[in-house]
Amino acid sequence: MGKMQEDARIIRNEEVARMTWLMRLHSPGIAARARPGQFGMVRVREGIDPLLRRPLSFHRIHSGKGEIELLYRVAGKGTWWLSRCQPDSLVNITGPLGNGFTMPDNPSAAIALVAGGIGIAPLFELMVRISESRSKIKAEKMHLFYGARSADELLPAAVFESTDVSVHWSTDDGSFGFSGYVTELLEEWTARAGFRPTELFACGPLAMQHNVARWALARDIPVQLSLESLMACGIGACLGCALPAVHPGGSSAEHYVHVCKDGPIFSAGSIQWRKIRKQQLPSPIFPCD
Ligand SMILES: Cc1cc2nc3c(=O)[nH]c(=O)nc-3n(C[C@H](O)[C@H](O)[C@H](O)COP(=O)(O)OP(=O)(O)OC[C@H]3O[C@@H](n4cnc5c(N)ncnc54)[C@H](O)[C@@H]3O)c2cc1C
Ligand code: FES
Repeated sequence: MGKMQEDARIIRNEEVARMTWLMRLHSPGIAARARPGQFGMVRVREGIDPLLRRPLSFHRIHSGKGEIELLYRVAGKGTWWLSRCQPDSLVNITGPLGNGFTMPDNPSAAIALVAGGIGIAPLFELMVRISESRSKIKAEKMHLFYGARSADELLPAAVFESTDVSVHWSTDDGSFGFSGYVTELLEEWTARAGFRPTELFACGPLAMQHNVARWALARDIPVQLSLESLMACGIGACLGCALPAVHPGGSSAEHYVHVCKDGPIFSAGSIQWRKIRKQQLPSPIFPCD
């Protein structure tokens, strides 16, 4: 089933952590089609301002009920307008878009996920699906490394109870869990526990994803990263979301991927990290330099 446009009815829209909102929508067409890691282009408001739709991942997909959930951080005008929307009003969404995560080959293996801030949004549905696929088999524990700038930006522990994930928390300011970056926690905890994931999934700020990629590549651990880029169309038409990538033929020729069409999920080794980071600077925090 391909993408579609749907007027989704808002069931709830509430602040669940600081500047972080959860919107539940009745959107049967998209709920039937969507997979973890895919996203929708959301018209945040009628009229011409803001003109462009905003890309948001599917945080939960309840296909049976015809409902989806979006978890979004109020970052600017578009997401602010979205946070003003009331239950029973309609939000137009185009989707599902993008490739989505590939489910692990071996769901019983040692799987780890790394989420930085709002990066938890696309990882949650994946985590639920992996948990479900493991419910009837003997499986290694799944580990989530989940960090934010401070405790009030984290989702509450209760939301993870429906999954079989063990959550390792971190905050940059030390207000909850490990004090430091989530990538430092990943490094420290895995070394201490002697834990080597067989597969890794991550989403968060670019610098965090770069660090996860380096950590995984150095250990030969396959990793799927959900990357972001500024998006205007979401369907491969404007070329605005291009990121420098490694040439598939292995040549040194310039090569670009489009996050909306080729991604947003990429393997760590397919991306030209240095070039992207130059492209997307300035950023306030670049812990790995
Ligand atoms: C595939 C994809 C999935 C996404 N999923 C989610 C999600 O589930 N939850 C969520 O909160 N956010 C998600 N984002 C980011 C979200 O789209 C932006 O935060 C949003 O578009 C900002 O719109 P705005 O009008 O509120 O802010 P603007 O006023 O447009 O921008 C505010 C600030 O955010 C920056 N920004 C805008 N768009 C992006 C972007 N795409 N990536 C990085 N920085 C951006 C701007 O440069 C500016 O500094 C996703 C982005 C992509 C590409
Ligand atoms: S957003 Fe237009 S090509 Fe990707």
